[in-house]
Amino acid sequence: MLPVVLRQVSRTYHLDDVEVPALRAVTLDVRPQRFTVISGPSGSGKTTLLNLVGCIDRPDSGEILVAGEPVQQLDDDALSDLRARRIGFVFQSFNLLPVLTAAENVEYPLQLLGHGAARRRERVRELLDAVGLPAHGGHRPGQLSGGQRQRVAIARALAAAPLLVLADEPTANLDSATGAAIIALMRRLQREQGVSFVFCSHDPQLQAEADDTVHLHDGRITHITRADERPEGRRAAQ
Ligand SMILES: Nc1ncnc2c1ncn2[C@@H]1O[C@H](COP(=O)(O)OP(=O)(O)OP(=O)(O)O)[C@@H](O)[C@H]1O
Ligand SMILES: [Mg+2]
Repeated sequence: MLPVVLRQVSRTYHLDDVEVPALRAVTLDVRPQRFTVISGPSGSGKTTLLNLVGCIDRPDSGEILVAGEPVQQLDDDALSDLRARRIGFVFQSFNLLPVLTAAENVEYPLQLLGHGAARRRERVRELLDAVGLPAHGGHRPGQLSGGQRQRVAIARALAAAPLLVLADEPTANLDSATGAAIIALMRRLQREQGVSFVFCSHDPQLQAEADDTVHLHDGRITHITRADERPEGRRAAQ
């Protein structure tokens, strides 16, 4: 099953009297268990597209299906429930809650979903181990490095075992060695946890790792490159 499908999706922002068409009739299949990178110049609509894929925003027209379910008829509560169960987010500025420890930040989405304390603790331990921070659960974000914060954000995004993890420029604030380590970590977790990742990114390191690259220009998809359809078959699909 495709994690997300967009059919003829358009989104126009209204700023005072000016209409800003940010996405124009975008059609896209997000494939399962892949790295999909949305690339394009500044202002081409990457973040707008990511927000629609993540059901943070609604389109003006067109259809969006998450796990085969059309989302347009869902009310705001049903949509936020869908997000909590199905979609993890890694924000560029990390967005960890500063007063909570790393472990509490990872636990938070599980609390919102009403999971019991024992199950939450086990999942938090498993994820902090998976992102290489078994001893940092008690640190607050201010007591972690940028790369460590990003790891905690990734652990939090995976906490609820989502179908899809979305990240807007996840390596932009990191030096290239830390960025490479974060990309390798996300690739490993993508394989181990069977999730799909969708990124907006200008980072050549992340673009080189993409399975599918969606090229956006002026609110339209100009083309989609799929690594497993290249003649040399750079990476076999899993
Ligand atoms: N909330 C908003 N209100 C009005 N216009 C907006 C809003 N958000 C984005 N836009 C406009 O929509 C277009 C697409 O913006 P978007 O943020 O999706 O671009 P982007 O490709 O993510 O750019 P960047 O690489 O700079 O992050 C731009 O012209 C932008 O000015
Ligand atoms: Mg953007």
